[in-house]
Amino acid sequence: MSLSFHSKVDIRFSAGETKSTGGIIKAAGWQRVLIFTDPRLKELGFSQRLKEIISKNNLTVEVFSGVKPNPKKEIIKQGVEKARYFEPDVIAAMGGGSVLDAAKAAGIWYSNPDKDIFQLKDPGERKNPMLPVITIPTTAGTGSEITSWAVITDPGKPAKVSIGGEKMTPAAAVIDPELTRSLPSELTIWTGLDAFSHALEAYLSKFANAFIQEICYLAMKRLIKYLPRAADKRKDLTARTEVMLGSLLAGWAMENAGLGLVHGMSHQVSAFYNYQHGLTNALLLPPVLEYNYEYCKEELQDLAGLFPENKDFLENLERFYNSLGFKKELEIKRADLPQLTAQTLENVNSQTNPRKPAAQEIEELFGRAFIIKE
Ligand SMILES: [Fe+2]
Repeated sequence: MSLSFHSKVDIRFSAGETKSTGGIIKAAGWQRVLIFTDPRLKELGFSQRLKEIISKNNLTVEVFSGVKPNPKKEIIKQGVEKARYFEPDVIAAMGGGSVLDAAKAAGIWYSNPDKDIFQLKDPGERKNPMLPVITIPTTAGTGSEITSWAVITDPGKPAKVSIGGEKMTPAAAVIDPELTRSLPSELTIWTGLDAFSHALEAYLSKFANAFIQEICYLAMKRLIKYLPRAADKRKDLTARTEVMLGSLLAGWAMENAGLGLVHGMSHQVSAFYNYQHGLTNALLLPPVLEYNYEYCKEELQDLAGLFPENKDFLENLERFYNSLGFKKELEIKRADLPQLTAQTLENVNSQTNPRKPAAQEIEELFGRAFIIKE
């Protein structure tokens, strides 16, 4: 058996943990803090509360609240411009995956101003480490709070570009399940299924090992048991905490083992149609698993014990979706299929899928996951 595993992020996890953010920043010797967030969280008063928490430590705080879902280069540029004006020592990113990814992308671009953000995809182009980023997730699903990756939309193609690896690890993750209690049921389900897809894809990844698979198992166990409860009762802190821990474990595994074809395909669909990331993953998961089935049959059989009824994995997955009341359809255009497919083949996530897909097979999978519009 050969195992390798790493984690460089200082992780703090508890209900109410947000209040420790100022202390963490102060202890690191940082003085100027730029909060990254989105307009919805600003409206809900989240960024104001964070600003107050941090300011209590005699630190200077500014807010950039312009992050949008599936963030494009233009948004990152606005964040970098705000940082140039304010000159922060650290970014405190509070939000879902889009906010955390935007903060990491802005952090690496800020430190390497002579390059374009998409040039920085190549680690060799990054002379300087990312401006320190502290992540404070408000959804339980992204995993971005502890990964060294930022997924940014290139609207020219359109495509999602994964920028990451060396010099892009967050300094700390402040994980507070209380923050997810404002999340509506639908988004709780979609983001939770994103976490589930991280755990399952990392478990089946070509780079997985026994240690990573154990982590994935624990993540899925929590998500299967508690996601239906969290989606049903917004204020159920026990369920919210367990789902958040499931998401963290899945993120940890994904950082070490990579993902698979679900994410390889999903990123393209989100870039083309601005669909929610967890939702597109949830729709892709059943057909892609069926496609992979013969190549990971034993691993999937080992997961049967996760479910209350010990049936075939695909059947169990369907029951899990039903327990969430998950039922949704999305359209994609037939004319876009060749480009969606070509980009999927190139995507970094597709490379660790247990089965190497051909272009024709990917097109067919798109047709099974989505409604094809002429
Ligand atoms: Fe994801």
